[in-house]
This record gives sequence, C-alpha cells and structure tokens, in this order.
Amino acid sequence: MDSHKKNIVILISGSGSNMACIVQAARREQWHKRFDAQIACVISNRPNAEGLSLADKLGLANQVLDHQLFASRQAFDAELMQLIDRWQPALVVLAGFMRILTPDFVEHYAGRMLNIHPSLLPAFTGLHTHQRAIDAGCKVAGATVHQVVAELDHGPILAQAVVPVVAGDTAQSLAARVLSQEHLLYPKAIREWLERA
Ligand code: GRF
Repeated sequence: MDSHKKNIVILISGSGSNMACIVQAARREQWHKRFDAQIACVISNRPNAEGLSLADKLGLANQVLDHQLFASRQAFDAELMQLIDRWQPALVVLAGFMRILTPDFVEHYAGRMLNIHPSLLPAFTGLHTHQRAIDAGCKVAGATVHQVVAELDHGPILAQAVVPVVAGDTAQSLAARVLSQEHLLYPKAIREWLERA
C-alpha cells in the first residue's frame, strides 16, 4: 500500500457487489496511474457480510466493526471514524452501508463522502424503494449517487441511472435491474469525482 496515494475507503454491510465493481473499475482503468488513487480498505459493520470474502478474494485490506457491540450510535460512529482515518482517506464510499450516520460523522467527511441509493432521488428516500416505486405506478426507476449530508439520502446529486419498470415487475426483479445499472454508475461517478479532485 502506497502511503502517498489518495486513499479510498469503502464501507459495506452486505453482498458488496458495488464495492467489487468499483475495485474492478479502479484496476481496469488504472486509477492509481490516472488519479494517484487506490482502494485502501473495505470496512463492514456486519461480521457476516458476504462482501468481506469478496474483498479477501480481491486482495483488499478489510475490517469488521460490529455496530452491535456499541452502546450508542455515537460510540460506534466515533470508533468507525478512527478506523477510517488511519487511512487518511481522500474519499469515503458508502456501498450498501446500511447505517444512519450521526451529524458529527457526516460533518467530518463533508465533501469527501459519497453514497448510492436505489431510487431516483429525491423520490423514495429510505427503505423499500423498489416496492414503493411499483406501488406508486412509476414507469421508470433507478439509482442515484450523491454526496452525503446529515439528512438521510439527501445531498447534491452526482449521477443517476434510469431503468424501466415493466409489467409484472416485483421488488426483486426491479432491484436486480437497478443493481446492474448501479454497477456501472458508481464507478463512473467516482471516476468523475477523482477527475475533479
Ligand atoms: C444497493 O442496491 C445499494 O444501492 C443499496 O444496497 C444495495 C447494496 O448492494 N444501498 P451491494 O452490497 O453493493 O451488493
């Protein structure tokens, strides 16, 4: 690990497919040469997240910080901040990181933390986005990459991808269609962020 590079720390909670796509794009597109950037570490708040073994397979440093071992959201976020800051990150990437963040945490990474949300924001913040889009009769759905601010799923929008909602869609079928676009959208949005950085 090169200590002079712009470090990117990725936070996950689940399968880590977005994380893997970002890592693969970084390698394929040689972000280390083009932007002097590297994926430094993957951190999960869930010990059994599938994304951890994926990170292992990709040869990435990875760590667990189990939120269940902390008495409060503040205590967890303070410890997470310490773990992240060991890497002095230029960018923190939330990739399926299913935690509400404290204002202090968000403030600390202001302007250098991105999230992907599986809806066309500002529609459908929060959970169950695909079912809600179907129930509302939406003809399109999608995903949004945005800067993280204190209010959940708000913050300046950096990129969006749109997919059709088709007759007979279930939350699962729509989620799969959206996720396949997330896999293209998130690496692209990060690349564009690095180009501007
Ligand atoms: C994605 O749909 C993301 O938008 C949402 O959670 C899912 C994470 O998937 N926040 P993965 O862990 O990247 O596979």
